[in-house]
Amino acid sequence: MRIDILSAVPQLFESFLNYSIVQRAKKKGLVQIFIHDIHDYGKGKYKQIDDYQYGGGAGMVLMVEPLDQLISQLKSERNYDDIIFMTPDAPVLKQPVVNELSLHNNLMILAGHYKGVDQRLRNLHITREISIGDYVLSGGELPAAVLTDAVIRLLPGAMSDETSALTDSFQNDLLAPPVYTRPPEYKGMKVPDVLLSGNHQKIADWREEQAEKITRKIRPDLLD
Ligand code: ADE
Repeated sequence: MRIDILSAVPQLFESFLNYSIVQRAKKKGLVQIFIHDIHDYGKGKYKQIDDYQYGGGAGMVLMVEPLDQLISQLKSERNYDDIIFMTPDAPVLKQPVVNELSLHNNLMILAGHYKGVDQRLRNLHITREISIGDYVLSGGELPAAVLTDAVIRLLPGAMSDETSALTDSFQNDLLAPPVYTRPPEYKGMKVPDVLLSGNHQKIADWREEQAEKITRKIRPDLLD
């Protein structure tokens, strides 16, 4: 898979790309990630990429031309399965969309900034818009990193234990059950007996029961 990320603050991705599962997936050749600085296509001596919004109002808007040029250049080099704009005024990201995106070959992700991006750019190139939650961040870089992480960990070989992704919260509309590791007792708190029983069927039943109980308590909306 190839992921191209377009950003006005490319430095924000440095640490994220060089640690953990993302780094492992890159090293294994499962994913190539390219970060593009929108300023490279900025206008004039000062490489301008944003301007005041028509009609007045606070906040700068990313201009259509620099982004159109950058995106058109990338599109001329390969076909993209999706060109995604991270923005709070979009459907909220859910696991099924992550699953779908993980099957693609080429993804482009635009991290917005300032007040947003000229609507004409959205009409011209964006095929999917995604919010990571009902709150507003100062830029789309963290949302782009969130989406990238969620997708990459599903690529076959990215995680050391392949079955792990399938037992995540949300993969079956349930939150994940509690997990324990050694020691078996800590400050008087014991690991549930069933987990030490070695009985796989009983353990699976217990986990399912716990997942349902927790989901009912914390996220009853998922059970509807
Ligand atoms: N940019 C700013 N806030 C955002 C959010 N919640 N989701 C996606 N992109 C954003």
